[in-house]
Amino acid sequence: MPFSEPGKTKFQVDLRRHLREQQIGDNLVHLICEIAEASKYVINAVRTGDLGVAGTSNLYGEEQLALDVLSDRIMRKRLIHSGVVCNIASEEMDEIFQAQADAAGLYSVAYDPLDGSSLVDVNLAVGTIVSIYEGCNLLQKGRNQVAAMYILYGPRVSLVYSVGKGVHEFTMNHLMEYTLTRENITMNSEGNIYSPGGLRNKYNAGDEKFVRYLEDRGAKLRYSGGFVPDINQVLMKGKGIFMYPALNGSPNGKLRILFELNAMAYLVEHAGGAATNGRQPLLDIEPVSLDQRAPVYIGCKNDVKKAMEFLAEA
Ligand code: AHG
Ligand code: MN
Ligand code: MN
Ligand code: MN
Repeated sequence: MPFSEPGKTKFQVDLRRHLREQQIGDNLVHLICEIAEASKYVINAVRTGDLGVAGTSNLYGEEQLALDVLSDRIMRKRLIHSGVVCNIASEEMDEIFQAQADAAGLYSVAYDPLDGSSLVDVNLAVGTIVSIYEGCNLLQKGRNQVAAMYILYGPRVSLVYSVGKGVHEFTMNHLMEYTLTRENITMNSEGNIYSPGGLRNKYNAGDEKFVRYLEDRGAKLRYSGGFVPDINQVLMKGKGIFMYPALNGSPNGKLRILFELNAMAYLVEHAGGAATNGRQPLLDIEPVSLDQRAPVYIGCKNDVKKAMEFLAEA
């Protein structure tokens, strides 16, 4: 029975308590709480850290910023010290890092430590994206995730997670604790927001027709260039679609299956939405390499279906 504390309107449910109610293993509760703790250091780095480049590049050939490298180190250290992680892969690491040898009750984690890092210098929102699998295999389909989450560093810091039993949002309070703000988030079947990535003059005919259809329908353009805030908008408002299609010269688009797409696809599907590469659900793709990319259409079910119809006709 919820109770009121003096000065508070209602009892605040913290992340650990909420996780315990999901009836998942203690190790998974611990792991998700450790990631939540790490995010407090990441947001501190984002707020106060060096805005320069690191002088290195990642496996995609992207120039790493000092903040990419620092956020990656914060996350990796915390995962290693959690004691419940076997393999770790990140957008900013060249290969899989083995924290400990295979043993019962361990998890593997794939993450993007600071998605949208190039937006920090113009003070736009960024985020951390995390996928969790049982055991040590990181090259398996996203449907096998046992948990997915992101942390959005915006005017407020929010954490959205699912362990397959609904999608829930927590917001960081003045004590830097994550407390429950929305439970069992669900999406409408369609909506009037569209968030299209990639240069439009590199779109193929089907994508071009789909975007024109959305415009004719009066959909509002909402694209910040940060995957986490852009997805968060579609998910929280429960309406619309985010897409980053195949482009002329980039047949798999830009976004990465392991580090970006799988976690978001899991969250959006569990909120009643859909996520495909234009032909099949993203969560059913068996990745063959760490750096694999895919085109993405993610959001309300009917909007994603419509995109697939336009692609099939083209
Ligand atoms: P990252 O900062 O991790 O390299 O990823 C950036 C991603 C994502 O945040 C966003 O959706 C997309 O790249 C933006 O790409 P464009 O600049 O091509 O719009
Ligand atoms: Mn990058
Ligand atoms: Mn990213
Ligand atoms: Mn990144």
